[in-house]
Amino acid sequence: MQSGVKRVEELQADIYDYPKYYDLIYGSDWRAEFDFLVSCAERFLGQEPKSMFEPACGTGRLLFRLCQAGICVSGNDLNAKAIAFCNERLTRYGLPETGMVGDMTQFQLDQPVDVGFNMINSFRHLNTEDLAVRHLTCMQQAIRSGGIYVIGIHLSPLNGETCDSEAWSATRGHLTVNSNLWLVDRNWSERYEEYAMQYDIYTPSRQFRIRDQLRFRTYTADQFCQLVDGVNGIEVEAIYDFQYDLTLPVTLDTGTEDAVFVLRVK
Ligand SMILES: C[S@@+](CC[C@H](N)C(=O)[O-])C[C@H]1O[C@@H](n2cnc3c(N)ncnc32)[C@H](O)[C@@H]1O
Repeated sequence: MQSGVKRVEELQADIYDYPKYYDLIYGSDWRAEFDFLVSCAERFLGQEPKSMFEPACGTGRLLFRLCQAGICVSGNDLNAKAIAFCNERLTRYGLPETGMVGDMTQFQLDQPVDVGFNMINSFRHLNTEDLAVRHLTCMQQAIRSGGIYVIGIHLSPLNGETCDSEAWSATRGHLTVNSNLWLVDRNWSERYEEYAMQYDIYTPSRQFRIRDQLRFRTYTADQFCQLVDGVNGIEVEAIYDFQYDLTLPVTLDTGTEDAVFVLRVK
């Protein structure tokens, strides 16, 4: 006897191996980050930025738009499929292929850039203090003296409620992707959070689900500032939040959850 309940096809996979779906969900929401990055650079450099580098750039959803605006851009990412997607799009727009497969804890650029940026928590994929220091040291060397590194992260507030889930949905043509992220485990003393992440994908001929589990290192405001203090040649210059409003700098306190740090390379 049939139950009448249709089982959804489900894959357990690396969610970043599906750049088309990632980009549909996160690529549409680019304007505020783009405007913030450009005006932040103008404010802290005192001139229009000429070059930018994005570690863990994924699909390059911001890179190609910055490049279209006349900025020399490049980025790296561990995921070869994301970089292929990034470079194919750059080529499609007649732009140089400047995405590289690489590790954000171990890289060097040929020429230092004006601005580094890393907007949505990718930095928290670095699961140890040592990897975080190595990354900041690479960025300090990749950015010219006087340049900035803009880094957005969700901090762990010491009081108040934490935001433990997110849901997004996007449609283009016949493709719809619903994305859900929710906390499955948190260990403050070991400093990690495990999130389940799921895409539900709908096309005219197929409906399926991709599931993954992602681990993020946790940072209180103090832990992040101490980390930066421990790296030579880089310091916190200003702090904003995910409203991306340069007229609204943030003062960190124990309840701060969203923070966009502008780090200055000395
Ligand atoms: C949330 S996505 C962000 C992508 C992009 N920065 C954006 O804003 O859309 C996180 C990315 O970090 C990449 N990643 C994780 N660890 C990395 C590492 N050690 N080096 C380079 N990329 C890494 C993943 O492959 C993934 O593409």
